[in-house]
Amino acid sequence: MDDFLTVSYKNSGSYKVVINKDYSGLGQEIKELFPNLRRICIVSDSNVAGLYLSDVKSALSSCCETVIEYVFEAGEANKTLETVHACYEVLLANDFNRRDLIIGLGGGVTGDVAAFIASTYMRGCAFVNLPTSLLAMADSSVGGKCGVDYKQYKNIIGSIYMPRLVYAATRTLASLPEREFSSGMAEVLKAGLIKDAGFYEWMIGDFSTIMDRDPVVTAEMLIKSVSIKQFFVTKDPFEQNERMILNFGHTIGHALEKYFNFKYSHGECVALGSVAAAYISYKRSMLTDEEFYEIRDMFVPFGLPISLDAFDVDAVCSNIVHDKKNTDTGLKFILLKKIGKAVIVNDVSEDEIREATKSLIVEWD
Ligand SMILES: NC(=O)c1ccc[n+]([C@@H]2O[C@H](COP(=O)([O-])OP(=O)(O)OC[C@H]3O[C@@H](n4cnc5c(N)ncnc54)[C@H](O)[C@@H]3O)[C@@H](O)[C@H]2O)c1
Ligand SMILES: [Zn+2]
Repeated sequence: MDDFLTVSYKNSGSYKVVINKDYSGLGQEIKELFPNLRRICIVSDSNVAGLYLSDVKSALSSCCETVIEYVFEAGEANKTLETVHACYEVLLANDFNRRDLIIGLGGGVTGDVAAFIASTYMRGCAFVNLPTSLLAMADSSVGGKCGVDYKQYKNIIGSIYMPRLVYAATRTLASLPEREFSSGMAEVLKAGLIKDAGFYEWMIGDFSTIMDRDPVVTAEMLIKSVSIKQFFVTKDPFEQNERMILNFGHTIGHALEKYFNFKYSHGECVALGSVAAAYISYKRSMLTDEEFYEIRDMFVPFGLPISLDAFDVDAVCSNIVHDKKNTDTGLKFILLKKIGKAVIVNDVSEDEIREATKSLIVEWD
């Protein structure tokens, strides 16, 4: 297994997404891209560094003389400017400049933080992403969105900065906690729902092999999921239009993530947000009741939530107003026309959002 895809984006070049079983090919990829490299800083979190930092360092040993690391405490709570500032200090102390390379090694939090550091330090230095969570491999490592949370606002400070290479070693998924694997599945299922009914139905049919993390099936699934992300990113790298479709499930999902103060993972909130968005589509007669219940119930075998105990629906909905996807032209919302086909609409009312959010509350008899 040594597959790769190339993600191209308008006006600014392209980069390779390598899906390999381990880091054996990493050194060669880096040497080809950066033949005269002097320094690398690997940004990683406290969980992943303990597991894979030394493997990655050995894979990079022949690429340049100096490889340093910056390790921050794992968790969404540390996707902050403070983490970014502390890394700037390390880069400055080690005389890093624009010709040096920053590598992110970890899940979506690490990728978002490391890419943001790379995009801002000295007005931008090269960035390579080594995703280690399913969510990061299947989704967040591709497309260039990066940034941090600020106060109660999620991903509110950031930029779009393309990596020079994404290299996923699927072997690292073996150590990923089950809940995190499920969280990644929410984005993969989303990819099928918005763009490819055949892929979605394949996942539903093969859920037990997928959840067993069969390496061949996982690689196949990643290639498909990354291709779907690539399709939207290539067409619309700066999210002026079609790329918004990738935000299916994210408007209500992000609001839940904030409301519950990150008690639920990003993917869990995306699953809940997808159920709510499918509910609006169903209420608008865009989906049949059969389709809606299939979409809702099929998150369950992948270990994802589809309902919640009672919560303050109004508080969640008022968060949505502050969501960055609100524009002067109204709230853009992604709905499903059918499984495999999403559309962008700008006329979803606050009442529809409230009703959909409320529908997530489980009714105990
Ligand atoms: N930039 C984008 O386009 C984009 C898209 C989707 C999500 N995101 C962001 O991604 C983040 C969520 O990503 P995530 O779910 O990967 O979170 P994460 O980075 O916090 O990783 C989840 C947990 O798994 C651990 N982990 C990661 N890889 C591991 C491995 N191989 N073995 C053992 N433990 C491992 C991490 O240390 C962490 O504790 C959110 O902040 C979200 O906003 C960004
Ligand atoms: Zn997401």
